[in-house]
Amino acid sequence: MHDRYAVIGNPVAHSKSPWIHAEFARACGQDLQYLSIEAPVDAFGATVEAFRAAGGIGANVTLPFKQEAFRYCAAASQRARAAQAVNTLVLDRGAPWGDNTDGVGLVRDLENNLGFALPGRRVLVMGAGGAAQGVVPSLHAQDPERLVVANRTPDKARTLAARFEGTIGCSYAELTGAAFDLVINATSAGLAGELPPLPPLQTLLAPGALAYDMVYGRDTPFLALARGAGVRTSDGAGMLVEQAAESFSIWRGVRPDTQAVLAALRRG
Ligand code: ATR
Repeated sequence: MHDRYAVIGNPVAHSKSPWIHAEFARACGQDLQYLSIEAPVDAFGATVEAFRAAGGIGANVTLPFKQEAFRYCAAASQRARAAQAVNTLVLDRGAPWGDNTDGVGLVRDLENNLGFALPGRRVLVMGAGGAAQGVVPSLHAQDPERLVVANRTPDKARTLAARFEGTIGCSYAELTGAAFDLVINATSAGLAGELPPLPPLQTLLAPGALAYDMVYGRDTPFLALARGAGVRTSDGAGMLVEQAAESFSIWRGVRPDTQAVLAALRRG
């Protein structure tokens, strides 16, 4: 039997993870199977147990289960504990262990693929849900000059920001007059074709800024607006591939090359 992995989420049919991991496995000469499993929203733990019983030895976790996966794990990495969310399960080394590769995936995409160095830069994260929670610890660790979390429900932004020294949580209205070198959309607004209520991008985005949407494979209203404002934009395709590569190396002890897979993903 092949070593068996899966991505567990709901919905999960659209997930590119099975394709990405199959590409990594082929490139690295690794013999494995990677499935996609849709868990009922009220049965994440039971779904993982059934997968384990069927020989599953590792899994990625996606929406809406990342926080539940953190609670499910008996132990977790420092970065998963900082995020209070897990996207990578290791199931064959004793009790379930969790890690979070989203933050490092975003940072590697920014720094290696997009040539954007975070230290000393002014960074705005929009959103304070699971997606933001997964990346704020890694952004903070890169020593930006300023890290601000803005959210429609500002209390959630303040609670998240309070866990990371020097980080500010606020409403969108409170951003008026501020300028950033990097604005990351970590809200789910784009999935509904919506836009967070931002102040005018002409002032919010400093000259040379990068507008980044963690959503992959669609042109969100935020990216369209940023392009219209004349700044560089990126969707989350690179983050998706980089977080997958980190999970792969945790499971297999081999780091796959991400460039060819990212290029193929972008070609569609
Ligand atoms: P995820 O795990 O994808 O982050 P989530 O935990 O449901 O999902 O969080 C969704 C995030 O997108 C939240 O920050 C949410 O703002 P609220 O906390 O105020 O709900 C944000 N969001 C969703 N739709 C939005 C919209 N139309 N405008 C602004 N923010 C939106």
